[in-house]
Amino acid sequence: MSSPAHRLAVYLDQRRRMGEPGVVPDQFEPGELLASLKSRLAAAPSVPAPRRGGRAHAGGRRGSRTEAAGPASRGPVPPPSRSPSITPDSPPSPDYAALRETALACVRCRLSEGRRHVVFSDGNPAARLMIVGEAPGAREDATGLPFVGQAGKLLDLILASVSLSRRDSVYICNVLKCRPPGNRNPLPDEIEACARLLKGQIELVAPEVLLAVGSFAAQWLTGTTRPLGKLRGKVYSYQGVPLVVTYHPAALLRNPGWNRLCWDDLQLLCRVMDEA
Ligand code: URA
Repeated sequence: MSSPAHRLAVYLDQRRRMGEPGVVPDQFEPGELLASLKSRLAAAPSVPAPRRGGRAHAGGRRGSRTEAAGPASRGPVPPPSRSPSITPDSPPSPDYAALRETALACVRCRLSEGRRHVVFSDGNPAARLMIVGEAPGAREDATGLPFVGQAGKLLDLILASVSLSRRDSVYICNVLKCRPPGNRNPLPDEIEACARLLKGQIELVAPEVLLAVGSFAAQWLTGTTRPLGKLRGKVYSYQGVPLVVTYHPAALLRNPGWNRLCWDDLQLLCRVMDEA
């Protein structure tokens, strides 16, 4: 059963392919947007889920397998596609599987002591777009999946607004794989201890485009300490991979006035993905 955000992404993509211009309001106040999206979905003809391994849409051209970590796993550990010879049916990359195993067993910092689950990733490791967030929160720690709380719901809607879906067309992970207690900010030594996992994910998933959400991911990927408001609006390069940065969805929930800026960032992201 696909989620409303996934169905919406597929529906919006169909409309876009049929030549319909942008259908997303300038402001996406979550409650209002959800209501408007629900009514669109109710009015939309039902759309079949994309074929497993098929090209769902522009954002997911490298297959459509879904990955989840931990006991809430929704499917098998998938292979990141790294060359044309790797098909959706190829066996999982030993390197990627090994990296994930390393993460699940990691005790390199204090966060391992209080965690319930290591939150490695979600989405499609064969996707063109990798999204990097900050760190798991309570729900993520409980489920083993990134961005499943309120901020995650908003992220799914934001992605759907540009016809991307977590299931098919993005790979999602965080700077930190374990929850900081009380959702405090990540500490520098925790970021340092976790960095090799994120570096490994970027190398093995080999995305065509990166999107950093929030200042911790944006600063780590740009190698700066500038505030997000000063970083956004430009295209960076992380080891040759184009990088766009935007606000964290949790920050958007607290500051709805930034929605318009986030929308602008998404338009920039779409242009970068079109060119990549
Ligand atoms: N915020 C993040 O940055 N990541 C998550 O996984 C959840 C909330």
